[in-house]
Amino acid sequence: MNIRLDKLLCEMGFGTRSAVKSDIKKGCVTVNSAAANRPETKIDTERDIVCYNGSEIKYSQYEYYMLYKPAGCVSATHDGRDKTVMDYFFEVRREGFFPVGRLDKDTEGLLLITNDGALAHRLLSPANHVEKVYYAEVDGQVTGETVKMFWEGIDIGDDKPTRPAGLELVDSGCDSKVRVTITEGRYHQIKRMFEASGCRVTYLKRLSMGAVRLDDTLAPGEYRKLHVDELKALMQL
Ligand code: URA
Repeated sequence: MNIRLDKLLCEMGFGTRSAVKSDIKKGCVTVNSAAANRPETKIDTERDIVCYNGSEIKYSQYEYYMLYKPAGCVSATHDGRDKTVMDYFFEVRREGFFPVGRLDKDTEGLLLITNDGALAHRLLSPANHVEKVYYAEVDGQVTGETVKMFWEGIDIGDDKPTRPAGLELVDSGCDSKVRVTITEGRYHQIKRMFEASGCRVTYLKRLSMGAVRLDDTLAPGEYRKLHVDELKALMQL
């Protein structure tokens, strides 16, 4: 792939376009061991070796992050009214990032963010049945009967009942704490499944998607790059 030197540095997080242009002009950057003073220099990312203050920079076309989505923002790239999940990515200056799927505005938890459309498509394709695990708190008592209903599939008003879903009781009383595993991504799916079983979701958090689990060192609103093993597991889907 060919890319301008200043764009490459900017996309790899070395600063704003004007900051990297100024660094290039100051002589901080070499291409194939020769000083490169022109921001518009074309780089062949497969062949050229770019160094910044002597350290080699590896260009990656695609990047993958996990965000701990907080409640109160929408899973979109732009919204005229509400804060979006992309508002948490102010340090990432690259264009083309988007959230992989959606969580409701009041749902928290794991959201993958990438600029790799093909991977997102595979993760979201209904044919791939990627497992998503959620922790939920619900008003109402979850019983063995509810567990059975979830496993057998529930009519939530769509063309087809839901696919078998795992429901594990974490704590059950007048209110219940549960873990739910679904392999679809229908609109408000978990809330509607509980509604159909006579309960109301009061708190919902996604814990994992495929093999990737929400990093419990992240606070709501924080993000980190996916580790190599996490990415490999997603790519194997
Ligand atoms: N199910 C829901 O009801 N809401 C979400 O955000 C995700 C799954």
